[in-house]
Amino acid sequence: MPVQTDESNSSEAGLRPDGPKPALAFNRLCKSFDGIPVLREITARFMPGTVNVLAGENGAGKSTLFKIISGQLAPDSGILVVKGAPVLTFDPRHARGLGVSIIPQELLPIPDMKVWQNLLVGRERVSALGFLKRREMMAEARRLLEEFHLDIDPEAPMRRLGVAATQMIEIIKATSRDSDVVLMDEPSSSLSSRETEELFRAIRLLRARGACILYTSHRMEEIEQISDTVAIMRDGAFIRQAPTSTLTERQIITDMVGRDIEDLFPNRVIGANRTPVLEVRDFKVAGYPASTSFTVHAGEILGLGGLVGAGRSELLEAIFGLRKADGDIRLDGAPVAGSSPAKSIRRGIAFVPEDRKLAGVLTSLSILDNVTLPHLAGFTGGAGFVDNAARRARTLDVLRRTRTKYARLGQIVAHLSGGNQQKIALARWLVTGTPRLLILDEPTRGIDVGARSEIYQLIHDLAASGVAVLLASSDMPELINLSHRILVMRGGAIAGELTRDAVNQEGILRLAMGKTKDAA
Ligand SMILES: Nc1ncnc2c1ncn2[C@@H]1O[C@H](COP(=O)(O)OP(=O)(O)OP(=O)(O)O)[C@@H](O)[C@H]1O
Ligand SMILES: [Mg+2]
Repeated sequence: MPVQTDESNSSEAGLRPDGPKPALAFNRLCKSFDGIPVLREITARFMPGTVNVLAGENGAGKSTLFKIISGQLAPDSGILVVKGAPVLTFDPRHARGLGVSIIPQELLPIPDMKVWQNLLVGRERVSALGFLKRREMMAEARRLLEEFHLDIDPEAPMRRLGVAATQMIEIIKATSRDSDVVLMDEPSSSLSSRETEELFRAIRLLRARGACILYTSHRMEEIEQISDTVAIMRDGAFIRQAPTSTLTERQIITDMVGRDIEDLFPNRVIGANRTPVLEVRDFKVAGYPASTSFTVHAGEILGLGGLVGAGRSELLEAIFGLRKADGDIRLDGAPVAGSSPAKSIRRGIAFVPEDRKLAGVLTSLSILDNVTLPHLAGFTGGAGFVDNAARRARTLDVLRRTRTKYARLGQIVAHLSGGNQQKIALARWLVTGTPRLLILDEPTRGIDVGARSEIYQLIHDLAASGVAVLLASSDMPELINLSHRILVMRGGAIAGELTRDAVNQEGILRLAMGKTKDAA
């Protein structure tokens, strides 16, 4: 779709003939959905060879901006300038032709492709006779995976990879292309610190090659580590853009959230009691050689740490009944045989999966239905009628507590920002019907700092009321500060246990990487 330009705007937006040209510039970009402004007159410029973090709460407009730059959406008004030339056509292929590549926040599933095919999409090697040079491509894929220290079989179908591994594949794809503008929308949200280091290595390489990188993340510690500038967005507007070295973390948070955040983590006053809720014995997940045994007690938050591919998500999915496994599971002392998700829910097991679309939210349904459908019985009166007033009131309350940004309760979840969708995946288990066991896999993936402290408090309160919580997280501060105890997994097995007093990041990493104390 063509967009109007005018001369005076063009010069402001980085079209001046003198001086270094910005790789990317916007002038008064605007975008609305259903009459609600989502981007308000965004003006900014980004230079080649720089890493720029875009910071802002869930729903601030970061992904919308990225979708415009990568040609998936057209702005309503304003100018986008790439490498000195105004963009008049908004189309993904056109954007790629201009040297723009994107790692989207929501990765597109391409389940039937093999890893090597996906890695080399668009860069296929073909023989003179028109056949794919399969062996050569396989070797190239293997080389790329090794370069990024990834233990992934290039022959594996994409569907077998978890969210984090899929994300690493996208990162390799985007960085091995020749791009002048690279947009990364929360690439690290499910990566452990070890993979994030690999990601940062790739980003520094891109920067040295002269690329302009725009990066979003809700992990505050990353901003200082990787960025040259920070641009802060709030409610669709640019609040400020400044060199990272001139801003403190506190200033960034206050600008982003519009208020001061006191403590991110609740004071841990509660202690777990010794009543076992979940007992897992000699439990072997299909496809993994090792078996695991552990117990989660009432009121306990048991953390699960490990690198990408360590088997944490697979273990949690198997316990919930989404994956085949052998072994013995007991809930409140009673054996649980022949598990399925439906049975698990009836037994009082709640699950927030890493991939919220797997068993988390139905994006084509409304917010209200997503939050309350699993608990409809709890809102049904004596005559079998659903008490809609109660249903709405409880939903409004949990949306307020999780600081979810939305337009209407009847709005479909697909139209929410990524972080706000994640809040919905959590909200349904926080709204009512306290479970016996709450399984959380990367619960705050993509959730902003402003809402994190509230969500941590809600998880903490559930544990305090006697719920057993099993928490897998690659966010180290979260894992360390919320858990009473941490099991570290490696190669599908439990590599070690760290108690509350002994927990620290080095200890977790050492176990995750299979190093003994002496070797480290
Ligand atoms: N297709 C759509 N229809 C209606 N509203 C939309 C649509 N896409 C996005 N929005 C709204 O636009 C606003 C900005 O969303 P966006 O995804 O850009 O936020 P974000 O800053 O990327 O947030 P997050 O940190 O959660 O990813 C949100 O309020 C969202 O609900
Ligand atoms: Mg987003």
